Amino acid sequence: MDHIWKKKDLLSLYDLNADEITEILDTAEEFKKVNQRNVKKVPALRGKTIVNFFVEPSTRTILSFELAEKRLSADTINISASTSSLKKGETLLDTVRNIEAMQVDLVVIRHSAPGAADFLAKNLNVGVINAGDGAHSHPTQGLLDIFTMREKKGSIKGLNVSIIGDILHGRVARSNIWGLLKLGANVTICGPRTLVPREFEQIGVRVCDKIQDALEGADVVNMLRIQQERQEGGFFPSTAEYSKYFALNKRTIKYLSPDALIMHPGPINRGVELDSEIADGPQSVILEQVTNGLAVRMGVLYLITGFLNNEKK
Ligand code: CP
Repeated sequence: MDHIWKKKDLLSLYDLNADEITEILDTAEEFKKVNQRNVKKVPALRGKTIVNFFVEPSTRTILSFELAEKRLSADTINISASTSSLKKGETLLDTVRNIEAMQVDLVVIRHSAPGAADFLAKNLNVGVINAGDGAHSHPTQGLLDIFTMREKKGSIKGLNVSIIGDILHGRVARSNIWGLLKLGANVTICGPRTLVPREFEQIGVRVCDKIQDALEGADVVNMLRIQQERQEGGFFPSTAEYSKYFALNKRTIKYLSPDALIMHPGPINRGVELDSEIADGPQSVILEQVTNGLAVRMGVLYLITGFLNNEKK
């Protein structure tokens, strides 16, 4: 079967067109069926070696990639910054060149520096998948969010999606915005002015200052984490002040339709951007996002290795 996907890397949803995004979502739908079977393993990536190189912490993404690789029968190796020679002063490129010299097929990289995955992709022959680079991009998170919206709501076109929280430092926000706009959604962003760049208006995103305005009429609300590790600039007076104006809780949920989905990429700061009773309530699809992430990553790995196989012929 001839695929639309013709890329050795997945770096950002900004780089993809609607057909490429849709092919990933459709492929993931098939892998979701595999994950629901009694035997959840297929031989699609047998003989392939994938290195998961996580220089920044992760729970969901690293486990999801590793499990996706295993379900596709690939051989996988995980390395972290603390156990690699980055600790001895080796450059990122030298480290990954050495990994490449061992004839691996794909590197999945998470790094705190925006552009780290792009840099490696330009300088390596192996495929590179961006598992989150600083505040820039987290394409598989964007894809799993969009997959969940499409599965629950039927279509992305015309869907009203509000993204609330730290947009400035939000690689999940950027990935959602790029992907959703390409598929025809109406996107609203909301949060303190210091964390919501007005420039997004220029690409067709609605910006609002009040959570009530972002919640009313939304089909989906994606609550983002306040990234304490990226808040050195004092972007808001205190966490309590942030929660008072921008949390989804018992007081603010009354503005949201009972049919609207509540999403969060995790990890949740419970009681800060999202109260526990909402995170665990009937409108929340947060754990379904995690389930879907596995299928989406299987889809991405399958399409990229398929392209690399054809290139070698
Ligand atoms: N959503 C997400 O990227 O979570 P982790 O940081 O745990 O991978």
